[in-house]
Amino acid sequence: MSASEPIGLTDDWDPMTPENYVDPVGVNGTLRRDCPVAHSSQFGGFWALFKRADIVAATKQTDTFVSSPAITVPPFSVADAPWIPLQSDPPQHRQYRRIINPFFFASRLEGFEPELRRLTNDFIDEFIEQGEADLVAELTLRLPATAISLLLGLPLESWKMLHDWTVAIIGAGNRGDFETVGRTYGEMFAFADQLMEARRQKPGEDVMTALVTGEVEGRPLTQAEIRGAFALLIIAGHETTSNAISNALYLFATDHSTAERLRTGGIDDTALEEIVRYCNPVQGMGRTTTRDVEVGGRCIPGGSLVALMFGSGSRDADEFAQPDEFVPERSPNPHLTFGSGQHRCLGEQLARMEIRIVLETVLERLHPIELAGDTKPALWPSIGYHGLPVRFAPGTRRSE
Ligand code: HEM
Repeated sequence: MSASEPIGLTDDWDPMTPENYVDPVGVNGTLRRDCPVAHSSQFGGFWALFKRADIVAATKQTDTFVSSPAITVPPFSVADAPWIPLQSDPPQHRQYRRIINPFFFASRLEGFEPELRRLTNDFIDEFIEQGEADLVAELTLRLPATAISLLLGLPLESWKMLHDWTVAIIGAGNRGDFETVGRTYGEMFAFADQLMEARRQKPGEDVMTALVTGEVEGRPLTQAEIRGAFALLIIAGHETTSNAISNALYLFATDHSTAERLRTGGIDDTALEEIVRYCNPVQGMGRTTTRDVEVGGRCIPGGSLVALMFGSGSRDADEFAQPDEFVPERSPNPHLTFGSGQHRCLGEQLARMEIRIVLETVLERLHPIELAGDTKPALWPSIGYHGLPVRFAPGTRRSE
């Protein structure tokens, strides 16, 4: 099989255009229909798989579609600090996961729930009397960042610092401003190094303690591996969840009957899964091919960067009836919002918990909400909002 040249139509796809920012779901839908194995010249050239079956098949071929070289398109991580466990392949991947997995067991996460509910109510208290707020700045970014502070055993106020790092790295990476990316990583890693030292001196019951005491291949993790794991937990766990929640809040603000239905009927597990599918916040994640490989009749050359378009796969009409409709009773619901295969999201249960807590609390205390100004879209490869101004009937605080 010889490597085919990318065809003209798909070379035109540029995920950084305004059109893609305004309607990424629509653009991805068109590509899924017309060019399900696409090529883009952006970021030095990459391929993208839009069909659910192709994406799932790629995640199973772990020797052909590897994660160690890059896990995003374009790569955001830095070479000397791999984003562990995402930026790793078998057999190391399983060993890295074994160190972190216990922190994401449901039994452990349940312990966070009362605190996360209390914090959500506290955040809402800060603006409920005003009758309007930017729900992203005031709520959806704060809760996930605070949850990560809890996981890392940091003071809750650390959420702002974690958030600022994430925004700087993602924003500057999109602009190709790698100087800012490098500087921000420098700050983040200096903090990570101090935290490593603190946990070595005085172990706690947090993820950083597990990382500094854990082993892979019979050796302790290196400083670079721990730095990368720290960066991944902060970035992967926070803007994603915020975007999923802001997508759902946009739905509530623009479709009051759906919001009312969820308010009166409650968000059961089936409805939550449909929220997770419909409000998917990640367009795609990256792999690199280790050899020429044929997908959907096209040949992707070895050494290519490939985006697995998980969000598109979750709206594939071959697998989902009415894929672009919000159907709260949809079952089964084999969406790819949390990925597929060995790298499937480690934080999915935490994310579900946070999404449910925020949406239930908003439906209880702010409903109905309506848009009160221009929204600000999230940046590729995310789908969501960096600004979501809404208005609602002013309410009363619950805490002093
Ligand atoms: C709605 C929120 C979230 C979404 C949509 C999401 C999505 C994803 C996806 C698609 C992957 C697979 C990436 C790939 O295959 O290349 C992934 C992996 C991962 N996610 Fe999430 N994520 C979310 C929340 C979280 C949270 C809250 C955390 C932790 C605090 C987290 C930590 C991770 C980690 C560590 C991995 C790598 C797993 C591995 O490589 O084995 N995520 N996530």
